[in-house]
Amino acid sequence: MTLVDDVKARSDIVQVISQYADLDTRSRTPKAPCPFHSERTASFVVFPDTGTWRCFGACSTGGDVISFVMRKENLQFGEALRQLAEQAGIEYRRSERSGDADLLYRANEVAAAYFSALLNSPEGAEMRAYLEGRGIDADAAKRRGFGMSPSGIETLAGHLKARGIGAGPAKAAGLVRQGQDGGWNDMFRGRLTIEIRDRRGNLSGFGARSMDGSDPKYLNSPRSSIFDKSGLLYGLNWAADGISASGIVVVVEGYMDAITAHEAGFDNTVASMGTAITAEQVGLVRGLANEVILALDSDVAGQMATRNSLETVWGAIQSQRRTSAGAGATSSSLAIRVATFESGKDPDEVIRGDPTGEAWRKSLAGAKPLLDYLLETAAGTYDLTTPDGKARAAGELRPLINTVPNQYEQEGYMTRLAGLLGVSLEQLRVSAPRTGYRRRPPGALDREPPDSIDAVASALNPDSINAPEDYLLAVVLQKPELREYAMGAAEEQFRDPVNRVVFTMLKDSATLEGAAISGEGDVAEKIERLRGKMLPPTDQKEMVDAISDCVQRLHQRHIRTIKAEENRLMPTDGKALPDDPQQAAALAQRLVQTNDRLQHFFARRS
Ligand code: CTP
Ligand code: MN
Repeated sequence: MTLVDDVKARSDIVQVISQYADLDTRSRTPKAPCPFHSERTASFVVFPDTGTWRCFGACSTGGDVISFVMRKENLQFGEALRQLAEQAGIEYRRSERSGDADLLYRANEVAAAYFSALLNSPEGAEMRAYLEGRGIDADAAKRRGFGMSPSGIETLAGHLKARGIGAGPAKAAGLVRQGQDGGWNDMFRGRLTIEIRDRRGNLSGFGARSMDGSDPKYLNSPRSSIFDKSGLLYGLNWAADGISASGIVVVVEGYMDAITAHEAGFDNTVASMGTAITAEQVGLVRGLANEVILALDSDVAGQMATRNSLETVWGAIQSQRRTSAGAGATSSSLAIRVATFESGKDPDEVIRGDPTGEAWRKSLAGAKPLLDYLLETAAGTYDLTTPDGKARAAGELRPLINTVPNQYEQEGYMTRLAGLLGVSLEQLRVSAPRTGYRRRPPGALDREPPDSIDAVASALNPDSINAPEDYLLAVVLQKPELREYAMGAAEEQFRDPVNRVVFTMLKDSATLEGAAISGEGDVAEKIERLRGKMLPPTDQKEMVDAISDCVQRLHQRHIRTIKAEENRLMPTDGKALPDDPQQAAALAQRLVQTNDRLQHFFARRS
């Protein structure tokens, strides 16, 4: 039995979920208002005999005890597993396989010392001069973890070997990769390296800047069991104290921006590393700050990341409000402000442009509350000359305005929005509000599944319920060029929790390289097995058909599962529907919808 099976078997799903939701356990399928969204009716159902849960309401997702804890606690798979194992009294050994975090950290530390020594050697003269030019002297370079990766005949791979670091951990940490000839090649060649540490100071990975203008400008460590850009805030190890002292966290985009800020004494600065901010990142500073200032680049690419960030930060904060309200606590929510700079400048330039620090302080002091910022930039975001653009602006901004707690302030924002749209306040009020700030992307089921033949049958072990899952994942790992075809499947449709994690990793990671090495224990082992799985010798066309077929099977199985669950929600005393008319109507409607979907499938398959 694997650890995953063990944890699932020995966790009491009802008891685990009761810690987060007020389950009505009188029924054999305990129900509660969904802990993942705000609602009055109890659309969230636990099925103790299958060890699963599902929200039949707005989020319409489901899963097992592990995915529940992952979502609710915002944890990675391994962390959720560990937590549940502890609760169930199962001994959780950290894997001694290639995924072992300590070995990876050690490999990174050895690499960092080597990069640093190289920067300080004669070979590093040019790079040191470059840093000097950017206001980073030798001491600062040391403080901030700069280094240089070799470009000559010397290699990090060779050095790691000499220092007794095995190829396994070096590869797992993303420092080296195996070349065509089987030899080990450095991941970073001739680049300025920047240490990326987590909030506790563990060396998770590197950013490596190209010096000759070659692309990509930054090459980062691939995602691994210890490095996940979306779960880190760069500089938080330096900034934690400054953030708690001031109650404010300033989020910039770049490594260099964060470093310059810290060197100038602005010690509450972290960097989002160029991508949209994630809920996980918000979680990292939630307990420390009560205000977030997003200090964003003025370029256009920055604007896109900005908008996505704003949505996430907002979403994360709203969900925090809901949960803390549910727990009876008063809201200690984060206020969000947005700082902007004169066009073409980034924080690094603003800070170094004025050594007194005044310019930067002024930018931060002038940061605007998120809603003001969104209203002021609305004309650039939406086409307010067309009815459609106006509808979109109203649809996206109104839900935000509705959450403003102070009624007069809320009124003020509504008036401004009405003014922008050129309608009266009354017109704006009566126009149908859209619910939710960000609409969910259309589900995979709304898309027309591609045509398929049953070419896959021979490749599959018909006894295994996970055969289509395994096949899909094996193909993606072995034939990256076919990846997109497999992405029509949805995370939730994977029944095996380890498969689900592997799928999510493949889906999320830009490079398969990155996905394939990340993951500890069960996950790493599964990936190895999938990589070694024999795929029948078929041509590309047949493989694409087989993938489509598997994707369809997963869809279909998923709908059947939901259907079965719905049937179990029906009263057992011979009545057709529950007593509560509202619940009865909702259930009836769902049954019809599910039947429609099933019919759609059978029509296609016959
Ligand atoms: N980034 C990345 N990969 C890239 C480009 C950018 O990971 N190919 C991330 C890095 O974290 C970078 C951030 O996005 O720090 C912001 O990008 P940019 O503004 O270009 O980088 P700076 O840190 O400002 O670097 P520099 O000032 O040296 O140009
Ligand atoms: Mn910059």
